[in-house]
Amino acid sequence: MRLEFVDTPALLVDLDVFEQNIKACFAALEGKNVAIRPHLKTGKSSIIAHRLLEAGAVGICVAKLGEAEVMAAAGIEDILITTELIGAPKLERLVKLLRDHPSIKLVVDNLEAAMALNAKLEGAGLQVDILLDVNVGQNRCGVMPENALELALEVSKLEHLKLIGVQGYEGHLQHDRSFENRRNSCLAAMEKLGKVAFELENSGFEMRIVTTGGTGTYPFCSEHPRVTEVQPGSFVFMDSDYLATPGVPFQSALTVLSTVISVSESRAIVDAGFKSLSTDSGFATPKNLAGWTYSPAGDEHGLLEKTDPEAVDLKIGDLLELIPSHIDTTVNLHDWYQPQRKGMLEPVWKIETRGKIQ
Ligand SMILES: Cc1ncc(COP(=O)(O)O)c(C=O)c1O
Repeated sequence: MRLEFVDTPALLVDLDVFEQNIKACFAALEGKNVAIRPHLKTGKSSIIAHRLLEAGAVGICVAKLGEAEVMAAAGIEDILITTELIGAPKLERLVKLLRDHPSIKLVVDNLEAAMALNAKLEGAGLQVDILLDVNVGQNRCGVMPENALELALEVSKLEHLKLIGVQGYEGHLQHDRSFENRRNSCLAAMEKLGKVAFELENSGFEMRIVTTGGTGTYPFCSEHPRVTEVQPGSFVFMDSDYLATPGVPFQSALTVLSTVISVSESRAIVDAGFKSLSTDSGFATPKNLAGWTYSPAGDEHGLLEKTDPEAVDLKIGDLLELIPSHIDTTVNLHDWYQPQRKGMLEPVWKIETRGKIQ
């Protein structure tokens, strides 16, 4: 089956590039004592998770409990949930999940939350491995580095939580357009994380996992001697935001395939709008189509505008590939991936954690 038989809009995976990206990611850390625990908040499919584990990943990260439930049911045991779990409904579901999947790991950045988690696990007779989430500069979640030891000492009194490491994600640096600045800022963030790991270890805590990093920073993170693993996610597919970030050595493996449904003079309308491509990082970029720009023209429509009179004309029924500006939020709009190799279709992959935001 060839591309012409794909109904559009569709999320098209170039398998050759996808596989090359995975190879390149692991190759970049060859010979280093740093494992890869890829983040599946991007790929959202257990098929992708299994491919990464086969390539040598030590486990996976997910952002949400709902994602962990899906990945655990697909046979993946070593899962780190990188977002704090707060509130009775989540703790109830967590207990159910932990009964069958005791290797799931959580992050904690606050004593009150740790106590609530501990109380719930005590009632269930369970224990969970936890990492202290440390704020290394993103100013999102995470205990401030100077307060980490105090929190660790308090958390260590809670019998149902076992502290096994630290997480510090420098998300604010991932797309820094200056390579030098990104590297230097990342090394500074790693110093903060490394110092916390050192302090905790000196106080008798086992620092089995020191986890950090994303697609834009993970090679820099791996330079720090205390980092044990990195968490890149977007590298498998890439998006136009990452493609514009210097020194990120991966290629575009994911596009939204769309059909031209109307044409007039220097404009063409495709069947991919806001419901097919997210816009939080800007508009998509037409692939292999010089002289045309894309912008959304409604929920179901996209506008192609000719900016170069020499550019090729578009006609009704043409298939266009659009490179998403942000993979995570675009993938979350779709039910299926359509993998292809050299233009020949392969069986679809379900995007199982689409919408698993709880
Ligand atoms: C905690 C954490 N780690 C790792 C990542 C992976 O980042 P990327 O997809 O940019 O590689 C993310 C992405 O948001 C994240 O939130």
